[in-house]
Amino acid sequence: MSHFARDVIPLANMGVLILPDAQAVSLAAAEAIEAIIREATATRGRAVLGLATGSTPEGAYARLVERHSAGELSFRDVTTYNLDEYYPISPADPRSYRTYMHRHLLGRVDIAPNRAHLLDGSVPESAIAEHCAAFEGWIASDGGLDLQLLGIGRNGHIGFNEPCGLSVDEARRLRTRLVELHPVTRADAVRDFGSAEAVIPTALTLGVATILAARSIVILATGSHKAGAVAAALTGPITAEVPASLLQSVAPRVTWILDRSAASALPGLPAAWPPIN
Ligand code: F6R
Repeated sequence: MSHFARDVIPLANMGVLILPDAQAVSLAAAEAIEAIIREATATRGRAVLGLATGSTPEGAYARLVERHSAGELSFRDVTTYNLDEYYPISPADPRSYRTYMHRHLLGRVDIAPNRAHLLDGSVPESAIAEHCAAFEGWIASDGGLDLQLLGIGRNGHIGFNEPCGLSVDEARRLRTRLVELHPVTRADAVRDFGSAEAVIPTALTLGVATILAARSIVILATGSHKAGAVAAALTGPITAEVPASLLQSVAPRVTWILDRSAASALPGLPAAWPPIN
């Protein structure tokens, strides 16, 4: 929370920053990422970031690229791990998250190619478990994640940890693995795949346990279509049916950055929040 200068309000012991619009969310997210890079590289000589794809973080990545192009920010000492990847998918497929990351960030900054890691949608089926375990092993040998950046699905998913009937304890122990995508997730993926039939229905995802272990977690949401999931995750019970609610169990390490629309279903906010300065 120290990465945010202003207006962070506490909710379920988490920090919540509510901003006027998506652009302000992107700027605040980029500022937080930059602050974490600076702090971690100053104290440990490197920063280890867990990154997300999707439409929500695109503006934050664009801002980080701008900072890099202006000579203000280097990724020389940064290592990244992405949350998820469709499976099976070729790394070169334009719809792969590997392509997304290359296009929006990794191909546009000075990160070393062997420090930018994504789950590989082209490993043989027989090697999935080994690949997922190795991915977690790499994160551990890098000293764990300084930051996990998250978006939230309309169904409350984080990464591709989808709503399910597990107990909270079981859900909190979920590791990196192959999952089936929830119908809401598949419906939202039509935007990228062109038709319902074309959506790849399975994916590799970092587990809940790995996400919750990050030293700092920043979750972004913009738009009224996220308002229900945001309210359930922040003010509802902790349940595997709303995977983002599991963040409540590591509350002091979590900051939400929301625009006014995504925050609109939160109970008890002043009518004109955030205050106009
Ligand atoms: C992406 C990811 C997903 C997205 C979520 C929101 O790597 O893990 O959980 O963050 O589906 O997606 P957008 O931002 O497209 O609404």
